[in-house]
Amino acid sequence: MDAITTPALARIAPPETRKSTLEIIRGIIRNPIENWPIETYEEPFVWAKLFGKNLVMVSDPELIKGILVDHADAFEKALSMRRSLGPSLGDSILLAEGARWRWQRRASAPSFRHERILSFFPAMHGAAEISCVKLLSQAGQEVSMAHEMMRVTFDIIVETMLSGAAGLDVDRVEQSITDSISTTTWSLLLTLAGLPKWTPHPRKLVAARGRKYLKSEFLRIAKERRANPSDRNDLLSLLVNATDAETGTAMNDQDLADNIFTFIAAGHETTALALTWTFYLLSQHPSIEERVLAEIAEVTQGEPLKQDDVDKLAYTKQVIMESMRLYPPAAMVVRTALRDIELPGLTIPKGTPVNIPIYATQRHKRIWSSPDTFDPENFTPEAIKSRHRYSYLPFGAGPRICIGMSFALTEAAIILATILPAVRLRLRPGYSPHPQLRVTLRPMGGMPMTVERRT
Ligand code: HEM
Repeated sequence: MDAITTPALARIAPPETRKSTLEIIRGIIRNPIENWPIETYEEPFVWAKLFGKNLVMVSDPELIKGILVDHADAFEKALSMRRSLGPSLGDSILLAEGARWRWQRRASAPSFRHERILSFFPAMHGAAEISCVKLLSQAGQEVSMAHEMMRVTFDIIVETMLSGAAGLDVDRVEQSITDSISTTTWSLLLTLAGLPKWTPHPRKLVAARGRKYLKSEFLRIAKERRANPSDRNDLLSLLVNATDAETGTAMNDQDLADNIFTFIAAGHETTALALTWTFYLLSQHPSIEERVLAEIAEVTQGEPLKQDDVDKLAYTKQVIMESMRLYPPAAMVVRTALRDIELPGLTIPKGTPVNIPIYATQRHKRIWSSPDTFDPENFTPEAIKSRHRYSYLPFGAGPRICIGMSFALTEAAIILATILPAVRLRLRPGYSPHPQLRVTLRPMGGMPMTVERRT
């Protein structure tokens, strides 16, 4: 196999224990993942102290099962997450707890059933074809693959969730989403330091401006749809017409707007990053790329991709899964313990922040024989069966597992199988894509790649 390795970040950076507090603060602002102690990749869990408070990072699959699955009701989404994302997403499905979360989840679920996702094939394939034509028109030029993939997944989420662009200024929405999450590491730092929300920090105004624009646009769409609530067979129709089985209440306009924001934000950048990292890894592993191309050619017989083909792209999906092992788009899940919890070998006191460093679990020395090597054989059915179920969790686990998991996997396979046979992408010489954690795991510099037309 043509192997390049993609070293885990804590192995590049020195462990946190050897850094001063100022260095840790700088590190959190620049790229929190570089602050993870090396033990995160080698031990079942590691305690860390930040601003005098204990937090635990748990990498062991059985302990993760204890936290996210067996004792899920003993944890809530962490204050840092609520504080960084709450101003944008309100009390929507991603951040709500208890009965309020349950009914939003039930109301959204029908949009994510297998047959419903397959019915999105024309929207997904159509957007992928447009992206492919656009890339081919730039043959010989360099593009930012992160940006290209954001655009195609954005078009898909808007089409499938809102039945079309609903008058949105796509460029401005995309920029505003980037602006509104650009200060999340500051929010994280201020929360950890116990400082109030109003504490000034860089880019606070830019983020607030982006958020204000998005919230007013999504509220406009919610009001328009409420005024004309006929079923358009999209997620928004479901949410407008849903009522809570326990209380009989429906979503008000603000709830709708918060959920539109949530589904657009959670549902496009993550998949775009999965694809960006996949195109990068394939460009570095020609023999794996050849095998993917051969599978696509065999399944499609040289015709445009069809809905029935998607389930047959087994190796292509293995490649996407392996890519999300090395570069999980959501690299960490965070919780706070609501009460004292006893797990085998680990006692978590009430109030403790608990971090599940997905990126580290998926490169853990005790789980993976070659943790940093890109090897899609890690996802043959036999290899999957031989591992602990919670050693791979790019979509989280337990009741709060990603509702868009199948949607994302189907979409990624369709986009890859549409673009790859037509376009060869070459990484800019000398560029090394350093992963940076900003809610999602982005390649610094946006993954510059030169487009070539495949003959
Ligand atoms: C490769 C793509 C994706 C990845 C890696 C990903 C990852 C995740 C993760 C790790 C969580 C759990 C967060 C936690 O437990 O705190 C999550 C939740 C969620 N995701 Fe995704 N996601 C992806 C695509 C999508 C898509 C396409 C949608 C919607 C169309 C979506 C919507 C959501 C929502 C609404 C939640 C909250 C679910 C709940 O709390 O009940 N995601 N996602």
